[in-house]
Amino acid sequence: MAEPTAIGLVCPGCRRLEGGQLVVSALQAGPLGLVCPGCGRDHPVVDGVPIVLADLDAWLQSEGPALLRRSDLEPPLLERLCLGAGGVLARDMARVQTYLDASDSPLQRWARSLLDESGGPALDPSGSAALDPSGSAALDLGCGVGSGDERVLGLDLHWASLQKARGPVVLADALNPPFLARSFELVLALNLLDSCRDPGLMLQQALALVAPGGRLALASPFHWQESVTPRSLWLRPEQVEDFLRAQSVELTRGEAEWSLSLGPRSEIRHRCVTWLVRLAH
Ligand SMILES: C[S@@+](CC[C@H](N)C(=O)[O-])C[C@H]1O[C@@H](n2cnc3c(N)ncnc32)[C@H](O)[C@@H]1O
Repeated sequence: MAEPTAIGLVCPGCRRLEGGQLVVSALQAGPLGLVCPGCGRDHPVVDGVPIVLADLDAWLQSEGPALLRRSDLEPPLLERLCLGAGGVLARDMARVQTYLDASDSPLQRWARSLLDESGGPALDPSGSAALDPSGSAALDLGCGVGSGDERVLGLDLHWASLQKARGPVVLADALNPPFLARSFELVLALNLLDSCRDPGLMLQQALALVAPGGRLALASPFHWQESVTPRSLWLRPEQVEDFLRAQSVELTRGEAEWSLSLGPRSEIRHRCVTWLVRLAH
């Protein structure tokens, strides 16, 4: 298996098993930002955010216009143009605001306490997605606008959210994450389970990223939507718990509230099931 570079990112497009061995290519600096020396795929870096996907074109076809959103326009002008443009630009305005205006909830406080326990800073102070070579890093899968905590590397598929995140981020797919297995001491996956297209695969990938002795923090309100996750892949909390119990040495289940803002006088409150999973050394 290839050693990670200082960048710590591997190509999600050409990772494969050959004769029972996992073959991965560590990304290198390239003309558009990063490039895979194995398959030649470009992984562009835009505004400092690496976009590391197996199928960049598929993502660009639906989300690409968001990359062209200008940051030099006055907010009211930008808002007017984006709303008029429709598509992902209009959708993003409402979606991002829902998260930015949300009040601090118990779920976020729980995540912060886990980060405090795991120490840090774990990431390169340059603010790039470079990981500390000691391997003691935290990763937030499906981070959205992020926790605001600069000790954690955020990963999401949503460009407009990542633009609002503080700290290092990478645009990538949590179902095919661009990292070597067992790379992180703490992996957060908060409200991603019922927001992704394959929750079972997400669980497997999230656990695979946790270093021996490390932890996975999982939370979900189990609010399934057929437009996001095919019904056949929906999971009940008991199914998640059985899966986690089979993998971990320690499993702690709890509940935590998580709020989102609908407007100045409205909010949605979710009661999430939480699990803290500790793996064996
Ligand atoms: C409900 S939001 C939760 C955001 C944040 N974790 C929180 O708790 O506030 C779910 C996030 O997961 C992201 N997401 C969904 N599927 C994903 C995938 N396959 N890879 C990466 N991010 C994904 C969405 O873009 C969205 O930002």
